[in-house]
Amino acid sequence: MPGPATKQTTSRANTLFVCTECGTAEAKWHGQCPGCGEWNTLVEERPPQPLPGIRARKSGAARGGTRAAALAEPIVLSEIRAERVDRISTGIGEFDRVLGGGIVPGSLVLLGGSPGIGKSTLTGHALGNLIAAGETVLYVSGEESPEQIRMRHERLGDAALGVPVLAETDLQTVLETIDRHRPRVVVIDSIQTLHCADLSGAPGSVGQVREAAARLMQLAKTREIAMLLVGHVTKEGALAGPRVLEHLVDCVLQFEGERERSYRTLRGMKNRFGSTNEVGVFEMERGGLVEILDASARFVGEATGNPGSVVMCAMEGTRPLLVEIQALVSPTEVVPPRRVANGIDRNRLALVLAVLGRHGGIGLGAHDVFVNVAGGVRVEEPAADLAVALAIASAARGRALSHRDVPLACFGEIGLTGELREVPHADRRLEEASKFGLRRVVAPATASSAADVPFVRAAAGAEKTARNLRQALSAAFDADESADDVAANVVAITESFDT
Ligand code: TYD
Ligand code: MG
Repeated sequence: MPGPATKQTTSRANTLFVCTECGTAEAKWHGQCPGCGEWNTLVEERPPQPLPGIRARKSGAARGGTRAAALAEPIVLSEIRAERVDRISTGIGEFDRVLGGGIVPGSLVLLGGSPGIGKSTLTGHALGNLIAAGETVLYVSGEESPEQIRMRHERLGDAALGVPVLAETDLQTVLETIDRHRPRVVVIDSIQTLHCADLSGAPGSVGQVREAAARLMQLAKTREIAMLLVGHVTKEGALAGPRVLEHLVDCVLQFEGERERSYRTLRGMKNRFGSTNEVGVFEMERGGLVEILDASARFVGEATGNPGSVVMCAMEGTRPLLVEIQALVSPTEVVPPRRVANGIDRNRLALVLAVLGRHGGIGLGAHDVFVNVAGGVRVEEPAADLAVALAIASAARGRALSHRDVPLACFGEIGLTGELREVPHADRRLEEASKFGLRRVVAPATASSAADVPFVRAAAGAEKTARNLRQALSAAFDADESADDVAANVVAITESFDT
């Protein structure tokens, strides 16, 4: 007689439902946790079972039959000999850099990104390079058929066609196949498609994803197999379901960018073996993802220098990056007027507009304002405030900030009282600007203490830099005019907008 279908609410032998918020363990699934009252937080858990053929490594003491706890001795760090790990290079410079210098053998890397951003392309390309370098690899796909994968890899070049592929979603089969072949590097595309038959949840559910990752990790650590787990992100940009995974894995990388645009950034969010400040910049082309080694040169070259355009000295991790910020201001009847922000935070735009109106004398209450970071780059840091303000002011006045075709560069955070605030890495930003021949830079006053980088005086007076938005505006528009004249100009603008 066939038994009834397993329901979410029926527990199997040895299965527990544990609340992810408070840790309450229940034998049955509940919609609401009896412990803390949160909804939908109970996740199915199985007591850990050793994988077939893989036993957890025992300490020498445990093997000797003595209780390990009694013998455990703390060790002074200086007495530990740190083995130098030889990293495995993916052959993609930007990828290696974000990883902290290549893949660490036996490490678990979670690569998150929205659909179509290029996760399969990037990992496929890396595996192709590894094969060409004589490494053993395996590409496990739960999403695409081998034919589909072949079609993609054909575009990535001959090396990528040498990658062995396993199209499989059953976790146990995947584990056993990996264990049989023992490659150095495995890609799981994606972790959400793996299904563990011992758990009742659907593939992609928190319990399933966590179980799959935990068992893959066990295999990775015992066999020293590096694994790249591809994970999807939700609309909000969080790694779907597997937030829990972030604690488990060694490295979390986020692949970002707008699908319609060609530029993509690869960012480290967590890295046990390196800095999380590194960012790789890529462009999606017909033959796969291409690294952009000199993004600043590209963006400065593309900068128009027209009214409404300014170059911002941004930081992408530890690397300075020059990006063009553009603004358009146009009179409107619409109430409230439109504020459209691409690549910058909407709330920061609202703040900058308010400060421009209050302290910069540029009120745009009857104008639509559009701000765009060229190239589809996202600039999250507050240092973008000044660039946004200057681009809008330039658009509002219809006056270009560039001088003899050389764009104006700037950076700085704007405070609510109209002051210009210091931002980190002023020296590196200034250096980058000067490297690309941008000699006119408006920066917060404190930047003047930053090194002897030759940047041009910003304000008309003795100041090289600006202390507040008003000084920054006058510096940007009229390096040669006196501050008073500029103030008069700004007032005139306010008047023309009010009428
Ligand atoms: P893909 O790597 O499949 O994205 P993900 O795995 O993150 O969902 O590919 C993303 C897009 O890139 C896809 O729509 C097609 C495009 N693409 C190219 O433009 N050039 C190429 O060489 C490849 C392989 C893909
Ligand atoms: Mg994919």
